Amino acid sequence: METILSFNHVDKVYKDGDTTLDVLKDISLEIKKGEFVGLVGPSGAGKSTLLSLAGALIAPSRGQILLNGKAIASMKAKERTALRLKSIGFIFQSAHLVPYLNVQEQLIFISRLQGNSKNQSVRLANELLEKMGLADRVRHFPEQLSGGEKQRVAIARAMINQPDLILADEPTASLDYKRAKAVIHWLSREVKDQEKGALMVTHDSRMLDFCDHVIQLEDGRIHTNPGA
Ligand SMILES: Nc1ncnc2c1ncn2[C@@H]1O[C@H](COP(=O)(O)OP(=O)(O)OP(=O)(O)O)[C@@H](O)[C@H]1O
Ligand SMILES: [Mg+2]
Repeated sequence: METILSFNHVDKVYKDGDTTLDVLKDISLEIKKGEFVGLVGPSGAGKSTLLSLAGALIAPSRGQILLNGKAIASMKAKERTALRLKSIGFIFQSAHLVPYLNVQEQLIFISRLQGNSKNQSVRLANELLEKMGLADRVRHFPEQLSGGEKQRVAIARAMINQPDLILADEPTASLDYKRAKAVIHWLSREVKDQEKGALMVTHDSRMLDFCDHVIQLEDGRIHTNPGA
């Protein structure tokens, strides 16, 4: 199986004045096509930091991160930005929707940035919104949506460019259990069917049932855990 993301002996150190914080220590991992990986650990363990590294939002202090076989560090800033738009779908704990765009426009905007035609973008957006159970919300603005609806829009938006890698930081935090389960079930099927890779931080152990395996972070290190 082809590898989408790999970390090779990655450290991350945050410097704050005189103090340094070793947030991640010697992280090595691999996510292959069609793999849905869970990431768990106590607050402050470094989960969000790991996701930011995987998404090329921040740089490692040591070690190497490869996306689709290419070292992120060797890319120019412009190349990294293009990579984020084309190859990575980010889902955060809160939706971060654009307040003045309606639901359909949130998706179309991203799809157009990627260079898709207007017609194609509308079709893709409607297809995804339908799958997310939002067909009757396409003209609504974020302030007219519930927290759960906003989050489903954010998930649809992360998927519209058909990214190779999905990075999700507590994507179900604002959803009730039934909705959370439905969304993660759907996400895990997308990952399988379309051979994407996914890394999902969650505090809800019930969501780990959908993961192929689970990485446990503790104090910035990986605890080997063959379970799930
Ligand atoms: N930009 C930053 N500068 C300095 N320290 C940071 C920065 N970002 C995070 N940290 C620190 O790094 C550690 C890990 O943070 P991180 O956000 O990765 O944890 P987490 O596992 O996602 O926690 P949570 O479950 O609460 O979201 C924490 O001690 C945090 O205070
Ligand atoms: Mg976090």
